[in-house]
Amino acid sequence: MALVTSKEMFQKAYEGGYAIGAFNVNNMEIIQGITEAAKEENAPLILQVSSGARNYAKHAYLVKLVEAAIEDTDLPICLHLDHGDTFELCKSCIDGGFTSVMIDGSHHSFEDNIALTKKVVEYAHAHGVVVEGELGRLAGIEDAVNVSDADASYTDPDQVQEFVEKTGVDSLAIAIGTSHGAYKFKPGQKPQLRFDILEEVSKRLPGFPIVLHGASSVIPEFVDIINANGGKMPDAIGIPEDMLRQAARMAVCKINIDSDLRLAMTASIRQYFNEHPDHFDPRQYLKPARANIKKLVQHKLVNVLGCNGKA
Ligand code: G3H
Ligand code: 13P
Ligand code: ZN
Repeated sequence: MALVTSKEMFQKAYEGGYAIGAFNVNNMEIIQGITEAAKEENAPLILQVSSGARNYAKHAYLVKLVEAAIEDTDLPICLHLDHGDTFELCKSCIDGGFTSVMIDGSHHSFEDNIALTKKVVEYAHAHGVVVEGELGRLAGIEDAVNVSDADASYTDPDQVQEFVEKTGVDSLAIAIGTSHGAYKFKPGQKPQLRFDILEEVSKRLPGFPIVLHGASSVIPEFVDIINANGGKMPDAIGIPEDMLRQAARMAVCKINIDSDLRLAMTASIRQYFNEHPDHFDPRQYLKPARANIKKLVQHKLVNVLGCNGKA
């Protein structure tokens, strides 16, 4: 099996009422944890790399690790650039073997977003690569993505048809109330998503795959372990799993998960060091961290995304 694009995955997911998990990867243990889970569940996968991940691990290392995972699992895996912000970055990933790129022009005007996205689509399609665009802005802070609550905005359903027609994108990320990171809602605030916007968007774009960013649930069990072992994340709140399941049954075909992987890894390592303060071999604490990622991803594939058995 070689790397694949997400085209066929999305078509089947749309028709089947489930979503593909798009998991952010930064190192070998994360890639192994995710792909071992997908193998056991026979699930198609998108592994995505942010520009921060690329700077941290280097492009070639991540590509080779993902190629090794394909050799190991024989699964259909799509390698995707997450939040590409320039044509040059997208081109570099396309030239360097990625099968999918996101061009995130959501911080530009509608017209400039169209022009930039169209340019990336033309280059990508000429090289057999698919493109995800974005309309609307999610709040949240990560390495290279930093949008304040005041700058965040929901997707306007009136714009989606024109955007997709003029750019030729293969999938569209929309903003319906999710956000990046571990602090998605204020303490006491009831988590809510604008399913009415998702419904409206899918009416304007029948059969077209929609992408949900900022879709970690910020699993309370991990937050509790972190806080019980010297961490300080008392107000971390994510998207309830039943809402993600509902989105997956609708037009959402790709659900992005990064923060939950980070929490799974960090919870495991914090707990390990509390229990073994004298240990210093990285293999000793990375092994349970990798196992915790595998357990988390299996849970997501089966209970949230519904893509188990679909590879
Ligand atoms: O949405 C952003 C992803 O979670 C990647 O985060 O830029 O810190 O690698 P990062
Ligand atoms: P989370 O921070 O909710 O995991 O979102 C990740 C994401 O959208 C990556 O693009
Ligand atoms: Zn994102």
